[in-house]
Amino acid sequence: MRSEAARLSDPLAGKRILVGISGSIAAVKLPLLVSALAKRGAQVRCVLTPSAAQLVSPVALASLSRERCFLDADQWSHTAPRPLHVELAEWAELVLLAPLSATTLGRWVHGLGDTLLASTLLATEAPVLAAAAMNTAMWSAPGVRANWTQLQAFERVLPLGPAEGLLACDRQGSGRMAEPALLLLALESLAYRGWRRDWQGRRLLVSAGPTREWLDPARCVSNPSTGRMGVLLAQAARLRGAEVQLVHGPLQVEPAWLEGLELHPINTGAELQAALRQLQPGVDAIAMAAAVADHRPARPLSHKPDKAASAEAMAAGWETVPDLLRELVQRRCGQQVILGFAAHSGDVLPQAQAKFARKGCDLLFANPIDQPDAGFGSPANQGWLLGPGDCVERIEPMAKLALAHRLLDALLERLSSGGEG
Ligand code: CTP
Repeated sequence: MRSEAARLSDPLAGKRILVGISGSIAAVKLPLLVSALAKRGAQVRCVLTPSAAQLVSPVALASLSRERCFLDADQWSHTAPRPLHVELAEWAELVLLAPLSATTLGRWVHGLGDTLLASTLLATEAPVLAAAAMNTAMWSAPGVRANWTQLQAFERVLPLGPAEGLLACDRQGSGRMAEPALLLLALESLAYRGWRRDWQGRRLLVSAGPTREWLDPARCVSNPSTGRMGVLLAQAARLRGAEVQLVHGPLQVEPAWLEGLELHPINTGAELQAALRQLQPGVDAIAMAAAVADHRPARPLSHKPDKAASAEAMAAGWETVPDLLRELVQRRCGQQVILGFAAHSGDVLPQAQAKFARKGCDLLFANPIDQPDAGFGSPANQGWLLGPGDCVERIEPMAKLALAHRLLDALLERLSSGGEG
């Protein structure tokens, strides 16, 4: 069950969302997405092109959205006081255009309004999340490439290119529509921060999830981190235009949230250290959200001993995993801005202030792990954001995606000021 804070801060509840569906087989994924939006309290209206109406049932969409579904035949009526495409365009607070076919892309980019969906797209002033999907060869056709490039410059549009995979046409390659779970996240992101691409041209390195330290091939020491905060931070930055490297331990998040990120899976603290050393020189900012296991066996075994021998090995001693955040600060390149995290039980702020001074990073977000709506695995978080000059900001409970955007704002502010405190 979702927590009260997460429910209250659901940015899609009550939103008027227009779902435009064009002719790609990925349209079959839309009814469940429409249902998910309606269940979250969004008002959803669907507009289908004639090709989309061949692929997915307007009756199903009407039923799942609890609204009538609009087709080309509805566009002109002598009983309607205003044109339907203008009515729908002005009604929408957000537009989800998924799947975006080659034809609808071409119409939109070239300003043609010869279907209900095409004219609605021209008439709307709402932000549009556009998720392309088509056959691999179509996606690489020069005309489509040119249209897609032109779309990147459109204001208010968040374009999501297709992912790689096995397509319904039996081709393996680029063309799969972004997964519905990612579309939901991107819609939330649009609702929180709009379509701004203020991270365009910036490179961000994020670490997320737990590390594991192995006693032997069957036993390890770790922590309950799911990686949610770091992954949301990485995806939010990508949606704002950043190029994102994600170094991650074993994650428990929607796999779709990883789309579009450059992934570097790791397991142990030593692997995390090696990945950070390799990637640090190429980025402008770093968010160290990984929950690094603090201790590792001094003498890990390469075979699995029985319980008694394993207890003996555990008693043989432990060493402390090096402080990687501290190392990032020591190896800082140029004006690189570094955000650390801190997890505490009890009185968080004084412990966080001491940690901030000790670690030397530019920003530190500290959260409790013994409160509701915060910490490991929770969809929400709260705490304190510490910055230069003893600056402390209280962060009230909010969804982790909203917090991710808040932290990206703080990082960007520091990047823009050239690291001046
Ligand atoms: N961190 C790190 N290397 C470690 C331990 C932690 O880089 N060996 C990073 C975490 O990724 C986080 C920050 O340091 O950004 C604080 O992590 P936290 O677990 O709160 O604190 P510790 O440094 O482990 O200190 P302590 O457990 O004593 O509070």
